[in-house]
Amino acid sequence: MNAKVLTDTARTLVAGDKGLLAIDESDHTCNERFAGLGIPRTTEARRAWRELILTTPGLGDCISGVILYDETIRQQKKDGTPFLTVITDAGIVPGIKVDIGESDMAGHPAEFVTEGLDGLRARLEEYVHMGARFAKWRAVMAVGDDLPSRSCIEANAQALARYAALCQEAGVVPIVEPEVLMDGDHTLARCAEVTEDVLRTVFEHLYLQRVMLEGMILKPNMVLPGLTCPRQEGVDEVADATVTCLLRVVPAAVPGIAFLSGGQPGELASARLNAMNVRFKSRLPWALAFSFGRAIQYPALQIWQGHEANIVPAQQALSHRARCNRAARRGTYDAAMEIDRTDSAPGAGSSVNHAVSTR
Ligand code: 13P
Repeated sequence: MNAKVLTDTARTLVAGDKGLLAIDESDHTCNERFAGLGIPRTTEARRAWRELILTTPGLGDCISGVILYDETIRQQKKDGTPFLTVITDAGIVPGIKVDIGESDMAGHPAEFVTEGLDGLRARLEEYVHMGARFAKWRAVMAVGDDLPSRSCIEANAQALARYAALCQEAGVVPIVEPEVLMDGDHTLARCAEVTEDVLRTVFEHLYLQRVMLEGMILKPNMVLPGLTCPRQEGVDEVADATVTCLLRVVPAAVPGIAFLSGGQPGELASARLNAMNVRFKSRLPWALAFSFGRAIQYPALQIWQGHEANIVPAQQALSHRARCNRAARRGTYDAAMEIDRTDSAPGAGSSVNHAVSTR
């Protein structure tokens, strides 16, 4: 294992005020999102969508790394330029999702375990050869009266840790993503309790599997009330609850925490990240960054609708969300950024788009 390569890559991913962009939806998930907007569910439409994203002018000003899917890492622009060349020419680090999605957990109704360890060493070798420098593995845990079960937390934490160890062996920085889902009517306090338990277990397993904390990035959920919980706390309360939880369980050796958006509206995800950086940045051992998928992509997808004529306004909407999140890292995001903008269609960015089966 080359510790310096790993630490350098991990630090690069969370350096300054940039963050990660997740465009690693599986074909199935991408098709589901397309279907909702009447976009054809074809390989060509997925390729065109990813070309639109990756050729957004100035993307590298706000985005440090892009997470790709197996289909996407092998694709090219219409003119034949490999996406990997487009990404590296923009000064962005390419990464790859290596889990193969969630399966129902046997004996555990409504719980899932993420698959993909079989053959992972060989797959990582191929991705490294192609140019990937970091990877991602997502585990999902639903919240309910008796959920998540101890066995679901342990099984997913162990898989995350075994994945992370294999990545580091290959010289690839693991993004470790245990996601406590927003679906349900649970309170913010319950989400905090579950998130703390999950992260504590994940770090125990990372230790057991000898994962070098300096060479990884944590990608957690923010601590939020369930989507249908009657009480929805404000951004400052969410910021407090999230940072309190992370300070308890994330070792200082981890260089950065890059949140998933989990289906939050884009503006709210930016406002919450901003509040964390405004209130706590100077007192934190790790960087607080973003690794958003929907919260950056969705407004642009709504504008694009699969039509070539909409590429420029869609890219402007994508760029806008990326810039809002860069500002959130600095602690300078303001709701006025959404109003003053002249670069996207009215209403873009305000939709919630959540579901368990999002990958
Ligand atoms: P969202 O920000 O849409 O949750 O996606 C991030 C991601 O990579 C989930 O695996």
